[in-house]
Amino acid sequence: CGITGYIGYRDAYPIVINGLKRLEYRGYDSAGIMMYDGDKIQLSKTKGKVSDLEVITKEEEERKKGNIGMGHTRWATHGVPNDVNSHPHYSQSGDLVIVHNGIIENYDTLRKELITRGYTFKSDTDTEVLVNFIEEVKKQEGCKLGQAVQLALKNVIGAYAIAVFDKSKPNEIIVARLGSPIAIGVGKENSEFFVASDASPFIEYTKDAIYLEDEEMAIIKLGKGIKVRKINDDSLVDANIQELQLSLEQIEKGGYDHFMLKEIHEQPKAILDTYRGRMLADEGIIRMAGIDDHINKFMNAQRIIIVACGTSWHGGLVGEYLIEEFARIPVEVEYASEFRYRNPIVTSKDIVIAISQSGETADTLAAIKLAKSKGAFVFGICNVVGSSIARETDAGAYTHAGPEIGVASTKAFTTQITVLTLIALKLASKKGELSKPELSSLLQKMQLIPGKIENLLKIDDKVKEIAAVYKDAPNCLYLGRGFNFPVALEGALKLKEISYIHAEGYPAAEMKHGPIALIDENMPIVVIATNKGHYEKVVSNIQEIKSRAGKIIAIVTEGDTQVKEIADHVIEIPETEEALTPLLTTIPLQLLSYHIAVMLGKNVDQPRNLAKSVTVE
Ligand code: G6P
Repeated sequence: CGITGYIGYRDAYPIVINGLKRLEYRGYDSAGIMMYDGDKIQLSKTKGKVSDLEVITKEEEERKKGNIGMGHTRWATHGVPNDVNSHPHYSQSGDLVIVHNGIIENYDTLRKELITRGYTFKSDTDTEVLVNFIEEVKKQEGCKLGQAVQLALKNVIGAYAIAVFDKSKPNEIIVARLGSPIAIGVGKENSEFFVASDASPFIEYTKDAIYLEDEEMAIIKLGKGIKVRKINDDSLVDANIQELQLSLEQIEKGGYDHFMLKEIHEQPKAILDTYRGRMLADEGIIRMAGIDDHINKFMNAQRIIIVACGTSWHGGLVGEYLIEEFARIPVEVEYASEFRYRNPIVTSKDIVIAISQSGETADTLAAIKLAKSKGAFVFGICNVVGSSIARETDAGAYTHAGPEIGVASTKAFTTQITVLTLIALKLASKKGELSKPELSSLLQKMQLIPGKIENLLKIDDKVKEIAAVYKDAPNCLYLGRGFNFPVALEGALKLKEISYIHAEGYPAAEMKHGPIALIDENMPIVVIATNKGHYEKVVSNIQEIKSRAGKIIAIVTEGDTQVKEIADHVIEIPETEEALTPLLTTIPLQLLSYHIAVMLGKNVDQPRNLAKSVTVE
């Protein structure tokens, strides 16, 4: 979920609504806004998107009035997405209003307790329980809102980022965080404040931001300032104001129909930005502070464990192939959600690499904490600067992909692979597995990748034609081997995420152990068959598909002749080093899923039921 809020001298409505639109990547099942005009609170909420909310508020100017507002865009956990369950939520007296991102695990116990004290509930949400619990604490203790929030949170089990407003204290907003991010934008001379799940809702108003840490709360008072306290022991914390690097252009569509298409096209630059300043190709040098500063740890590592979720997990799989191939260090790749709950064997001789675009994925964050508690050194690969994972890890390397807004991850994936390639090559060279000239030659090939992707993007029309042929297929299979096996998984994930076509990725040779049973003339099969790495074997797999009448869309290297003869469609990628092919083969698969989804009329940037950043487990 995404939360945002404003308190100051401007009209709060447009700030909160536009802020919510920027936060919709965090969920878009329902949306709501609270406005306070100095006299009364107005709540407007609805199932659906922020644009649906605007339809409701359009008719009644009343609903938009005030200099204080809080908004919420939801990814449902407790209770189906409907108007009642949407946030914000009132307390019973109607004085307190809350927006909440996260899950209150002991909400049922609290709810039962509150019912015995005469509270009734309109919604099925844990959030309505929380706001009433705060109200009850405030009443029982006769304390101020800040204290009531603090006392209530001490009794709460779960994860949250919350913002609370109290009509009887209309010059303040209380925010708190445990597990879900929250940023506070600070206006000049405390004349206005912004609250949001990330800084994007307020970048055009202020560059000064405070990011709360876990277990911290802030009392934001108009005209006075911000006090940050530890929730547990009430101690004051120095509020560290950071200068935001984000710009408005970075988070707008810039002439593209969808963020996803823009982000696909941004990959040449994103990859360049990611390796820029980190390598001297001609000299055969890679500089990565996060590794250089801890080089002994890496040299003595007995094993690397990569933890991640979703697309980042696929990035991790490519990392396994890269690191084992070049650096000869054993690598395991785990779903963070499995790793954290299976009592994994981790020691201080292991290095854990956590990969996350958002840096906020709850399962990945928990996996990091577990690995640290077992003594492992944890290295993060994140895209969002200053995110929870970036801060929780011992060291790390950012992917400099820029903001990724489309829910289906594209440039985050290829920049993760870029960082992993640098790590693999750096460790290989340190370990003496690669000579300087060998490293230099690989880095020079890497420098050609952005230009090659630029050219590759010109195949768009051809991919569109193929998309038109297969858009109505109910199923699709993706096959690849070696470095391109994870790319096949990622290609399938992209298709199912945004077009809702069922798709499976498989190692090409595994096909005969199951998926081959599905093949008939209605089944499109995307096969990655680049000229290096088991080419002949993949060609045999293609033959096996052909003899069962499957439709073959092959990704081949420029100049290929063999596959061209058998496949129904071929898409050519430029020649490169085998280990670098995932950076190229990924591109046509992204475009294919994009065009199919557009042709099917699906919401490409905000596919149903998904969220870009999953801050609940
Ligand atoms: C969600 C997103 C995916 C993403 C995954 C992991 O499921 O929809 O696109 O790959 O979370 O997110 P992270 O931010 O940790 O990379």
